[in-house]
Amino acid sequence: MFEFVVEDEVRLKPLEILHTEQLYTLTELNRSYLKQWLPWVDGTKSADDIKSFIQMTRNQFAANNGLQAGIWYQGKIAGVIGFHGINWANKTTSIGYWLGERYQGKGLMTKSCKAFIEYAFAELKLNRVEIRCAEKNFKSRSIPERLGFAQEGILREAEWLYDRYVDHVVYGLLARKWDKREV
Ligand SMILES: CC(C)(COP(=O)(O)OP(=O)(O)OC[C@H]1O[C@@H](n2cnc3c(N)ncnc32)[C@H](O)[C@@H]1OP(=O)(O)O)[C@@H](O)C(=O)NCCC(=O)NCCS
Repeated sequence: MFEFVVEDEVRLKPLEILHTEQLYTLTELNRSYLKQWLPWVDGTKSADDIKSFIQMTRNQFAANNGLQAGIWYQGKIAGVIGFHGINWANKTTSIGYWLGERYQGKGLMTKSCKAFIEYAFAELKLNRVEIRCAEKNFKSRSIPERLGFAQEGILREAEWLYDRYVDHVVYGLLARKWDKREV
């Protein structure tokens, strides 16, 4: 199956049903850590829920509405990155991501994001990529900041996270800025 080689030990592979067990195990091992910032963790109770998610991503891809990939590090699944959907009329998309806790601190997500941005602008010919992060999710915010996104605003109480609303910081990147990047 298709895979994108980010670097020797880091590969992106579109999610497939055969990844279900590995992705469920990664989720199980990281529940409390992921719950800090991701709203779907409690609702993911079994491998069947992961299978349904993967099936949804396959349908999304078939409908030309974006791609979700597993991030593979040293042959093991380390996390997920994907486009939430594609707005073809306005040529925009947004990126979401997560890593297992032990895979943080290696630049895996920044490098994977770079590959997704390149794909969005060079292959899909989109004009704008957005990343939204909870205001206090500083590790997540560092990724668009490292990649030259502009901070465009704050959406107040944009997301319900189990027991509280969190504000979102909106980061945007335009194709013409990416073409002229120095990073
Ligand atoms: C958000 C999340 C993916 C960030 O993970 P991360 O490991 O900090 O991000 P990266 O993989 O890009 O790695 C960056 C870190 O690796 C370091 N690093 C090492 N080599 C690097 C390289 N070649 N390039 C970039 N960074 C590198 C950076 O210094 C940074 O470490 P620091 O935070 O100690 O400064 C992770 O914390 C996570 O999954 N959290 C839970 C889910 C979540 O919040 N998702 C986002 C919702 S909006």
